[in-house]
Amino acid sequence: KSEKKTFQIGFAQCTMNDNWRKTMVEGMESELAFHNNIGMTIANANSNSTRQIAQIQQFIDDKVDLIIVTPNEAKPLTAIIEKAFDAGIPVVIVDRKTTSEKYTAFVGADNKLIGQNAGIYANIILKGQGTIFEVGEGAKTSPTIDRHQGFLKIINKNPQLKLVKSLFSARQPQYFQEEIRAFLSQHPKVDLIYAHNDRLAHAIANVCKSLGLNKKIIGVDGLYGANQGIDLVRKGIISATILYPTGGEEAIKTAVKILTKQPFEKENQLFTTIINAENVGIMLAQYQKIKEQQDDIKRQASKIIELTRIFSTQQNTLYLTVIF
Ligand code: FRU
Repeated sequence: KSEKKTFQIGFAQCTMNDNWRKTMVEGMESELAFHNNIGMTIANANSNSTRQIAQIQQFIDDKVDLIIVTPNEAKPLTAIIEKAFDAGIPVVIVDRKTTSEKYTAFVGADNKLIGQNAGIYANIILKGQGTIFEVGEGAKTSPTIDRHQGFLKIINKNPQLKLVKSLFSARQPQYFQEEIRAFLSQHPKVDLIYAHNDRLAHAIANVCKSLGLNKKIIGVDGLYGANQGIDLVRKGIISATILYPTGGEEAIKTAVKILTKQPFEKENQLFTTIINAENVGIMLAQYQKIKEQQDDIKRQASKIIELTRIFSTQQNTLYLTVIF
């Protein structure tokens, strides 16, 4: 726990074990760097809803000033989040949802739209005809529910597109690769795989390769970095990824507005788009530019710290000179 601050945020994070979550926390930390008076404690639920409920209860008992939460599973987390809200603690929900409207603000992309975008792109690359295998995370998480429903909404409009199997699992890709392999060995003719995140998409691409199959794969997330979604599209390992921004910076910006009693929006929908071979170059160039600017900011920040240190020692010297 950080030293005494004006405001203390409790962040109940459903899991921390992947790059998407790490990127989210990095975004939060770089935004928090502008606010010395705000401290944040992170509780990692390790994809366990019971644990996350206990962690939120602890934040309520600790009387934190605001709770940020990525609800592990929608229904199981609803009651405790309502409880925090009813206790007068502002709650900012990020990425995943509950089944209730009782929260102060939401930050995240619309997962139904993510599913619809995946459906639209599946229709395009299959030229309106083919079979699809869907693979997603735990069936009780709101992104899985919404990404599935959004996808169905689009492909159900075309009877020539058939979703032959949906496989959902709360386990990490490396632990359910065998089920994926079993399905693909039995159904080697399936035309396209819709994976609910790029980690799964990458794991599926590896399974396909080892089975000697060449499949069209759509992922979700579109992170920047080696072997992340954008890189996988650029290398042609997957056909496309649907951008799913983490919302780290936006979550803190919203939290700050709430804590300092400034006006804020309850619903903060983040932008999404389809990243494919045609626009991946533009995306890469943009991210490289952002990365350079972030590095510049970091360099400038350490320069400022250095200058402040020199300035304060000079002041001390001056003070001593006057005394003697
Ligand atoms: C990261 C992640 C992302 C996915 C999101 C859904 O933990 O699995 O890959 O888009 O969570 O909540």
